[in-house]
Amino acid sequence: MSDWYKKMSFYQIWIRSFADGNGDGIGDLQGVYEKLEYIKKLGVDGIWFSPIYPSPNADFGYDISDYRNIHPDYGTLEDFKRVLEKAHKLGLKVIMDLVVNHTSDEHPWFLESRKGKDNPYSDYYIWRDNPNNWDSLFEGNAWEYDEVRGQYYLHIFAKKQPDLNMDNPAVRAEVEGILKFWLDMGVDGFREDVINFISKKEGLPNGVPFLPAVNGMMHYKDGPHIYEYNQQFRKVCQQYDCFQIGEGPMTTLQSALKYLTGPGKSLDMMFSFDHMMADCMYTEYMHRPFSLIKFKKAISKWQYGLAGRAWNALYLENHDHPRIISRYGSEIFWKESGKMLAAAYLFLQGTPFVYQGQEIGMTNIRLGRIEHYEDVSTKTNFHRYHVKDSMARRLARIHVSSRDSARTPMQWSGKPHAGFTAPDATPWFYVNRNYTTCNVEDEEKDPYSILRFYRRCLSLRRHSKTLIFGEYREHFPKDPLLFVYERVMQTGKGSTRYLVICSFSAAPALLRCPKHLQGRRGQLVLDNYERAEMKPFATTIEEGEMLRPYEVRVYRFKV
Ligand code: NOJ
Repeated sequence: MSDWYKKMSFYQIWIRSFADGNGDGIGDLQGVYEKLEYIKKLGVDGIWFSPIYPSPNADFGYDISDYRNIHPDYGTLEDFKRVLEKAHKLGLKVIMDLVVNHTSDEHPWFLESRKGKDNPYSDYYIWRDNPNNWDSLFEGNAWEYDEVRGQYYLHIFAKKQPDLNMDNPAVRAEVEGILKFWLDMGVDGFREDVINFISKKEGLPNGVPFLPAVNGMMHYKDGPHIYEYNQQFRKVCQQYDCFQIGEGPMTTLQSALKYLTGPGKSLDMMFSFDHMMADCMYTEYMHRPFSLIKFKKAISKWQYGLAGRAWNALYLENHDHPRIISRYGSEIFWKESGKMLAAAYLFLQGTPFVYQGQEIGMTNIRLGRIEHYEDVSTKTNFHRYHVKDSMARRLARIHVSSRDSARTPMQWSGKPHAGFTAPDATPWFYVNRNYTTCNVEDEEKDPYSILRFYRRCLSLRRHSKTLIFGEYREHFPKDPLLFVYERVMQTGKGSTRYLVICSFSAAPALLRCPKHLQGRRGQLVLDNYERAEMKPFATTIEEGEMLRPYEVRVYRFKV
């Protein structure tokens, strides 16, 4: 298996909100086709498509009703092949979302399975007469009674997402078939949805109810056959030059290493969640203010923990999380914090993923009523937690945490509907009102825009062995305002070093520099204030200087 993915960076498309090519208010493959040059120009090397398959959209694509087709809202298989062909011509790899922990309850397998115990699909899902006490992550209890079958089925996510029974060899054979179908078409790999949940503990014992929503997780995360099942899928993928990245909610470093290393290796990379817990955003009911120290601790744990053994997947945004400027930065210091956050993660060791709209600094949307939101987990959180609070407080909580903030239409221009769809169409979801200032067209023209900064960061990384392969070293881990890290590559005579200094503070913060670089002459290669960011220049760093709000500086040294 080649490791081409190490040098790459990816762009994630959540198609419904990306670009509408046919003017019906919904993003589609025609829209993607037209924007491929834009993606290429950003400086990434591949695309990850969140699910584009037929789906009733109870969880916007993550409830699949046909694994071998395209949702009619987005086009046809022929449209997909055209996109794939053009992407490949442009030198972009394409990876698909593989969602096999569950299907839609409208998938033909489920429709058959519920018919009864004699049906050939009977054991495709997990049925019980007496459910256990597990919670689902999205909609209360994890079991739903099915009138037709007269039994309960398990759903770790929404009611309309029944869990597949991966212990059934026929189900695993289906997964193999799905992998082959897309690989034969020419796709380059898979992002594998909640792949650490697919094996459940025998007997499905009760969980220890200590926290809502996650009760039971101890029995379905990294379950007894998880590595074996993933190795089976890996064997199929190894017949192709493809790569696999697993999504691993709540996975520990120790178990990630089992997926990523050794003879039983079953994945190339994993999306870890530790850093998402710095403000506990994944479980909204426990939301607390962002702690930079916790964030850094999580980042460093994975940077050091995988060093020399496996490879990190780097991300701050995706379709499951609010926008990072609103979350870790500041909408007041929009441009500065948007750029700082780019440098804070794009220069870590690993393969970076940029989520659509992140590169132009899109921010959270704030809708006036819960009914205006679309996401199933947003609604559950609103109706389940903190229900005694005032409406304003409950909505404020949704404003900071909803997944819908990442799902508003992409802002292409200052024209009606942000140029996402035709002027006379109605976009399927609300456009963020800041589209008149935050949009691709305007940011193309502004040499100091967030978009242009992302391009510079990705280009810098692409052309630097040190930034791709160099060793990671964190400095001042206890500093509550600064994230300072170094990337080091030993050369024949000495070393090349990049020093990244990020201020997460809206007030001026004291610059800090590791002792061995103090007073040394280096190059300031990137910074986010409208000064010298365009051209590197020689300088030295002295402690005592003050950094401006959300200032970031990237220095290069030959030592
Ligand atoms: C993780 C996906 O990223 C998320 O969007 C989805 O809701 C769940 N898995 C369930 O498929």
